Formats: sequence, structure tokens, C-alpha cells
Amino acid sequence: MKAKAAKVTKTKTASVKKVKAATVKKAKMPKITMDVSPEEIFVPTYKRGGAPFVRGKGIYIYDSDGKEYLDFGAGIAVNALGHAHPALLKELGAQGGRIIHTSNLYYNEPQIELAARLVKHSFATKVFLCNSGTEANEAAIKFARKRGTGVSSQKFHVLSFSDGFHGRTYGALSATAQPKFHVGVGPLPDGFHYAPFNDIQCAKATLDKYDFAAIIVEPLQGEGGVNAASVEFLRFLREYAAEHTISLIFDEIQCGMGRTGTLWYHEQAGVTPDIMTLAKPLGGGLPLGAVLCIDDVAACISPGDHGTTFGGNPVACALGSKVMDIVSDKKFLDKVQANGDYLKGKLAALAGKFRSIDNIRGTGLLVGARMKDDPSKSVDECRKRGLLVIKAGMNTIRFMPPLTVSRKDIDKAVKIFEAALSVG
Ligand SMILES: Cc1ncc(COP(=O)(O)O)c(C=O)c1O
Repeated sequence: MKAKAAKVTKTKTASVKKVKAATVKKAKMPKITMDVSPEEIFVPTYKRGGAPFVRGKGIYIYDSDGKEYLDFGAGIAVNALGHAHPALLKELGAQGGRIIHTSNLYYNEPQIELAARLVKHSFATKVFLCNSGTEANEAAIKFARKRGTGVSSQKFHVLSFSDGFHGRTYGALSATAQPKFHVGVGPLPDGFHYAPFNDIQCAKATLDKYDFAAIIVEPLQGEGGVNAASVEFLRFLREYAAEHTISLIFDEIQCGMGRTGTLWYHEQAGVTPDIMTLAKPLGGGLPLGAVLCIDDVAACISPGDHGTTFGGNPVACALGSKVMDIVSDKKFLDKVQANGDYLKGKLAALAGKFRSIDNIRGTGLLVGARMKDDPSKSVDECRKRGLLVIKAGMNTIRFMPPLTVSRKDIDKAVKIFEAALSVG
């Protein structure tokens, strides 16, 4: 196989930039030994380019050309504690040296430690651990359907909302009410229905039509453009779900784990779900997802109903407990809130200066600059100038730095953003 792969690379086109690892002297990185151009060997599921990233420290990340970037994307809201956080590195080595994998046929200590923390710090009494956000939502939908079909065979319908994003596997994808993700991959499973986000009347009309097992909603949408659910909308969903024994699922994969200045975003709305899904920052950068639920949901699940070989990996869970210990601290959360307000204020000041900005939105350190036009060019300009930000929805630029970001970092990032907007 290796010989074949090496041969294929000989056919590379001259226009494709070669990967260069050797230029990063400071980082003492090993060279990429295969003479390949990434465009030729990856399935093109992402539009990406530029030199690969080779190391990170705190809020900064460095590419193989040695260029430094302020990482205000945080690996799509994963690196809550920044890069190379000492507590995580220590735990990585310690747990890696003890045991890396056991499967879920047995308990392992880091899983128990993490699950206990998740229960202690939430509404939930039971936890299921998996590897990612999409898997957490997949499991949540299955659990809700198990609960529903235990009441009536037709109680399997799932309601979700426009501009939400729940993942890429068929269940999570079917709950993602964005037609662009469904093109060419149908047929999707039956029983998924959509209503406009924040529209109580439409949600009620749809809910009244079928026998629903689940309502799944991001209380603060990330990928869809940093859109907050109104408190009234969440309250309506809560009340309707309770009256009809529907499992209310909050997808806090992006907005949870302290990102908005409270451990869970739903605390700010004062509305509690039956199931909550988590992932992204949970594993400190390693793949880890979780479903948190109430006893009534867990009681519908028996051994064999669901499972995962890797889910709740001991190393990922050991990092997860460290992340939880840090982000659940009230002082830490207050700082996230204060720095989030500071970032929003700085961006709002720019909105007064640049007509290209429509408005600034978001909570804590999940902040969006909604632009009047497609912001892709501004995102690219920021990257050229050493700032990583991420597009969300059609026209929003997302700022979601590590939660450890300082005001100095924020000032620097906003200056770069301003310079990027100045070039049009
Ligand atoms: C709110 C939300 N749910 C689910 C997912 C899917 O998570 P993953 O990419 O880990 O499968 C994402 C990813 O962006 C997300 O933002």
C-alpha cells in the first residue's frame, strides 16, 4: 500500500503547493516524510488550504511555515482551555501511561470520575459516553424514541428547527433542518419534522399533527449563525414536551461547557431539558461526547440497546474531568462572561464604523458578527493577518476563542479584524 501511495504522489500538479514541515525550526517538528500534496490524497469534504498547523500554545497556533495565529476558532469551539494547557498535558501522559483503552464491556475509573462530575453539575441523573457530537445526538434520538415507542408504537416523531445543526450521521443529519446538508444523500429516515426556529405557533401546529418522541433544539445555535432561542420559545417547548411525554433534548454541544458564561446555556433561560448532548470541549481536544438524561429516559434503555467501542475512552475522560473542574468554577465562568461582554463591546464599536457589519450577537465567548454580505473574504483576510475566525450560517463571522482568552488577546484580535474589514 505504501509503495502505491508514494507512486500516486508523483503525478501531482505543479500548481499545488507542497506541504513543508521543515521550515518550523523553533518547534523542532519532525518533517512530513511523504512527498505529497494534501489536495490529492484527501476526500474533499472540506474546502481548506494553506500550510498545515503544527503546534499551539495557549491562544496561539502555528503553521509549518512558522506563522503565528490568534486562534479565535478554537478548533470549532473545542479548545476551551487553549492549546497545550499544562493540566491537560500532565493528565494525558499520566492516564496514557496507565491505560488507553478498555472498551465498554468494563468500567474504567476516568469514565466514572467524569460521569459523576456531569451528574453533580447538571439536572441529569444518568450519562452515556460516546465520541462526538453527532454520536451524542444519534444516541439521544434513539433514547427518546425508545421512551416514546414504549408508550405507543407511533410515538417516534422528532421535531427540530430551522438553522439548527446536530451532526452528519443519518439521525443527527435528519434532525438538522438545513436542506443543503440533505442534498444527494437521501432517503433520510422517516419521522423527522421541522419548524421555524423561535416560532411558537408553527411549532405547536406541527407538534399537534403527529405523536412526537423528541424535540431537539440548540438553545443557542452555533453553526446556523449564532442565533439565540427566545426564553418564551424554550418555555413553550418545555411545557408542551412535559404535557405530552416528549423528551426535550437540548443540544449544548457548541454552547455548553462554560462557553456562554454559565456552565450550561439553558441555565440562563431557566428551562431544563430531559436530555442534553455535549461534545466539542468535553474531551479537552480528544474525541468525546456525552448524553445526559433524567431517570425516566434512562429507564427505557436496556443492555444492548445502544453502544460504542471507543466511547468514553479513558484518556479522553481523564482530560474531560480536568476540563470540567476548570470550567465549572464560578470565578472562571464569571471571567468568561466579562470577557465575552468586552469582546462584544469592542465588536459593537466596529459595527458603528463599518457598514459591512449588520449586528453583533451572542453570549459569553460565542459571539457572532452578522455581516451584510458573504463574509468568506473577510475570514480569509483575517487568516492572512494572523487571526482565525469561522464563518457561521450564510453571513456570520464567529468569534469563539479559548475560554482562557485575555483582554489583551481580544484587543489584538479586534484590531486584526478591523484591518481585514478595511480592505473591503
Ligand atoms: C450544536 C452542534 N451539534 C452537533 C454537532 C456535531 O458534532 P461533531 O462534529 O462532534 O459530530 C456540532 C458540530 O459543529 C454542533 O455545533
